[in-house]
Amino acid sequence: MGNKIQMIELSKEHNAIREEIEAAINKVIDSSAFIHGAEVELFERNLARYLNVKHVIGCANGTDALQIALMALDLKPGEQVLVPAFTYVATAEVIALLGLVPVMYDVNPRNFNTDSVSLENIEEIITENTRAIVPVHLFGQCSDMNAVLAVAKKYNLKVVEDCAQALGAKCKVGQEEKFAGTIGNIGCTSFFPTKNLGGMGDGGALFTNDDALAARIRMIASHGQEKKYHHKVIGCNSRLDTIQAAVLNVKLKYLDGYLAKRRRTAALYTTLFTKADPLNKYLYTPLEEEYSTHTYHQYTLIIKDKHSAVETTEEGATRDALKQHLADKGIASMIYYPLPLSDQEAFQNIALKREDFSSTATDSLHNSEYLAKHVLSLPMNPTILPEEIELIVNEVINFLKEA
Ligand SMILES: Cc1ncc(COP(=O)(O)O)c(C=O)c1O
Repeated sequence: MGNKIQMIELSKEHNAIREEIEAAINKVIDSSAFIHGAEVELFERNLARYLNVKHVIGCANGTDALQIALMALDLKPGEQVLVPAFTYVATAEVIALLGLVPVMYDVNPRNFNTDSVSLENIEEIITENTRAIVPVHLFGQCSDMNAVLAVAKKYNLKVVEDCAQALGAKCKVGQEEKFAGTIGNIGCTSFFPTKNLGGMGDGGALFTNDDALAARIRMIASHGQEKKYHHKVIGCNSRLDTIQAAVLNVKLKYLDGYLAKRRRTAALYTTLFTKADPLNKYLYTPLEEEYSTHTYHQYTLIIKDKHSAVETTEEGATRDALKQHLADKGIASMIYYPLPLSDQEAFQNIALKREDFSSTATDSLHNSEYLAKHVLSLPMNPTILPEEIELIVNEVINFLKEA
């Protein structure tokens, strides 16, 4: 039996605008301009206007966007790049792929992100080889870019924002409000179908206000060529497909509406959870930081372990049992992410952490390790119904009360 309440319901979202999307796709089919068609440039311009950024450059997916960003910054193998330990693998994977060294720092345990708390002892992992920092705007809320920019300025680091999960979020930087991805040197996003702005296949983009960087990004994404068949640098082949751009041009018009619905859904979840568990005996709801809007790409709870006087539950056991209970009731939930990147096999002997720089440091990524064992993301999408949210909250609370 399939789940009764899914994490996402793309077909509902798309059925509402199906005619518009089909017309946009048919136009591309009629033109046969499947590569570098007019819709790509149009989408880049539309998104640049939406984000109030000078340049948007489409590419094949969000992982490529991150890779191209690091290539454009001309980092050399062996140089170090700071990255949070609690994120999707792509953020750190591309660092390693380019022969750079990912140096992992911890996140704030209540907002999952990079901020002044998580950067408190950052100087201990910064060396003369550190070149860049890649803050992630995880689950739809911005990292505190004021804190990131202060560190970047002090240590002369480039800033690549991973806003794959937070397109449309805004961060207060000084007195200004700026869109996620438009604050550092380069912003990177993904149009994976389930993202805030999702295509009907893979897609990604880079943002920058720097003309020279924009030109370099375009060149790298196009086999390093400045003009056809003249290759200035080693690049790659990473293009935003015309059909995807056509779909995204349609969906961009609805983005603010989708985000408003996500926020309304989150508000209802939080109101109901707070009423049922006012003292956070069982769980924490997502924290909304004053410096950022939240686009609720995910609605992620922190489930506390139940410790009785006689029995100590294994760490994370309550969360795991709750997930199973919800599945039994036909309610989907997801663990983003079950391991910090520092514990992933792929990063052993590649990534560094504070312990590698200081003989007295211990457990420097404990927040990331804690979160991996305690987070649980609930169904969140622009079409979920209030009665479904009520049902989910009741199931969660009743289970935790009885567990
Ligand atoms: C935080 C983060 N970074 C990067 C990516 C990579 O995007 P894509 O799947 O389009 O390569 C994703 C998407 O899954 C993501 O969530």
